[in-house]
Order: sequence, then structure tokens, then C-alpha cells
Amino acid sequence: MVTAEVAEALPAQTPEDRFEAVVAAEQRIEPRDWMPDAYRATLIRQIAQHAHSEIIGMQPEGNWLTRAPSLRRKAILLAKAQDEAGHGLYLYAAAETLGVDRAELTEKLISGRQKYSSIFNYPTLTFADVGVIGWLVDGAAICNQVPLCRCSYGPYARAMVRICKEESFHQRQGYELLMTLMRGTEAQRRMVQDAVDRWWWPSLMMFGPSDADSPNSARSMAWRIKRHSNDELRQRFVDMSVPQAQHLGVTLPDPELRWNEERGGWDFGEPDWSELNRVIRGQGPCNAQRIERRRAAHEDGAWVREAAVAYAAKHAAEQAASHVAEQAASRAAEPVQHATEQENGK
Ligand SMILES: [Fe+2]
Ligand SMILES: [Fe+2]
Repeated sequence: MVTAEVAEALPAQTPEDRFEAVVAAEQRIEPRDWMPDAYRATLIRQIAQHAHSEIIGMQPEGNWLTRAPSLRRKAILLAKAQDEAGHGLYLYAAAETLGVDRAELTEKLISGRQKYSSIFNYPTLTFADVGVIGWLVDGAAICNQVPLCRCSYGPYARAMVRICKEESFHQRQGYELLMTLMRGTEAQRRMVQDAVDRWWWPSLMMFGPSDADSPNSARSMAWRIKRHSNDELRQRFVDMSVPQAQHLGVTLPDPELRWNEERGGWDFGEPDWSELNRVIRGQGPCNAQRIERRRAAHEDGAWVREAAVAYAAKHAAEQAASHVAEQAASRAAEPVQHATEQENGK
């Protein structure tokens, strides 16, 4: 939002100057403010991709909803999946403030014209995967998303505040699940280690390609949409996860992982970027299945959307009719009031 101070300091400037000044002053750009076309397009692409990730991200864990080992675990997992649906809805709503339609974004997702996070194209083979997704995938999401609470676009920044609080619950539930399994049998501990081995590298890839191969990053940073580079965030995630892995008693599958005393951070190996590129191109283990499932759910939901539109039209017609009736009634009442006033000598 353009506050009074910023607006006052900028008399008679061009919309471009005003936009730049608002961003530089750490104020928020709001939907009705002027913004460069490329800023709008970047935000639409990023918010849509984020919203799609929340919605597609319900599928890997949804795979375990009917097979959760206890009522408690099932209730927690259901709550988490519902949170992700809510995150998708806030984000589609934030994207709509930029002038796109949610139906159009969904169409782009299911026709493969818009992406979602590569991480959700991996299968969930055991219940330990639910814990590891909470710990590592929601953990990586937190590293990526906390800085977005200060993003220059108001509706996106505000949506992220609530989302981050819920992601933090997701991460803790995952870690608690893993701690419980690690206190269990040898087979349960092996199951956790196997899940960590499969999810570690894909989690590191969630931060995107290395900075050298991330051409749009600099512009997003200048616009204060993005606040840290991909490599900075990846480093932050590794530094956060290593002590958690030690406490849990699992080994992270990276022989190059070692503490670097000089720079006070963990050195780690290079992710397999060719794998990331394959998954982004649609050749990950579950890409086709995820999109097919999303398409089927969208088609199955057509009657709900039709009913909602019909109800909204009926409700609007009823409101219009009652407004007309109210106006007619107030017109009919006017002469009576005049007569009363005249009688009172006014
Ligand atoms: Fe989420
Ligand atoms: Fe989450």
C-alpha cells in the first residue's frame, strides 16, 4: 500500500517512478496501483505455480489417508491436507487480484502450460514418507516462503503470513512422526532412513537451479518479490536440516556433507540437475499420474461449480427483486409522511 508519507514525497511523478519508490521504501504494491506489465506477469506465473503446488501437493500424502496407522495419525494427516487446499485457495485468490481467472489457471495446469513444484512428482512408498515430507518438504517450503511474507505485492505477502504459520505445524508433525518411528523397531528405523535417502536430494532441488542458471532471479530480487537467491536459501535449508538429522539419528545421503568452520556453514554435494530438468520436463516418476488425477477431480467437480453459479444467480435475482420492492414501499410511504408533517404545521 502507498502510505501517506510515500505518496507525499512523490508529487507529480510518473507511475513508473512511484512504483520504484514504493518498492524501494519497502511499502506494498496493491492491486489498484500501477505496476509494470512484466512485474504483473512474473507475479501471476509465480503465484499460480505456488497455488498449483499446494493443490497437487495434496496427492502424495493423500495416498496414505486411508492407510494411516492410527486414528490420531489419520486426523493429523487430514488436517494437513485440508490446510494445503486452503493455501491453494488463498493463492488463487491472490492471483485473481492481478486480473486472471482461477478457472483459466486451472486449465493451464491440467494442460501442462503452467508448472508446479517438481517435488510432488515423486511417489510416497511408505508411511515414513509422510513424516519425511513434513520434515523436509514443508521445511524447504518454509525456507522459501518466510521471505515472501515481505514480498512487495501486498495480497501475496499477506497470504504468506498465514500459510507460513500452518507450514510450521506441518513440519513439526512430520518431525514428531519420524521421532516416534525412530523410537520403534529396527524395521521402522530402516523405513525412515530409506525415506530420507529418497527425499533428500529432491528437497534440495525445490530451491530451483543454482544461481548461475537462474536468469529471472535478479529482476525478481530488484522488484523485491524474491529476497534471497536460490543458493542462499538452499544453504539455509541444509544448515537447518543437518542438526535435525543428527538429533533424529538418520544419515543424510551426501558423502560430501561436512562442517565448514571458516564460513560457519555445511558444505554439501551438487544435486543432479539433469534429474531436476527431467522432472520439470514432465518425465518424473509421477508427473502423468498427478495431472491425470487433478484433471479427473476438476471434471468430477463440474456439477459443484455449476450449482454454485446457479445459486449465485438466483440469490442475486432475489436481492434485486427485494431492492425494487423496498424502493416501491418507501415511495408509497412518502406522501403519508408529508401529510403528517403538514398536519403538525411544519
Ligand atoms: Fe502449504
Ligand atoms: Fe504444508
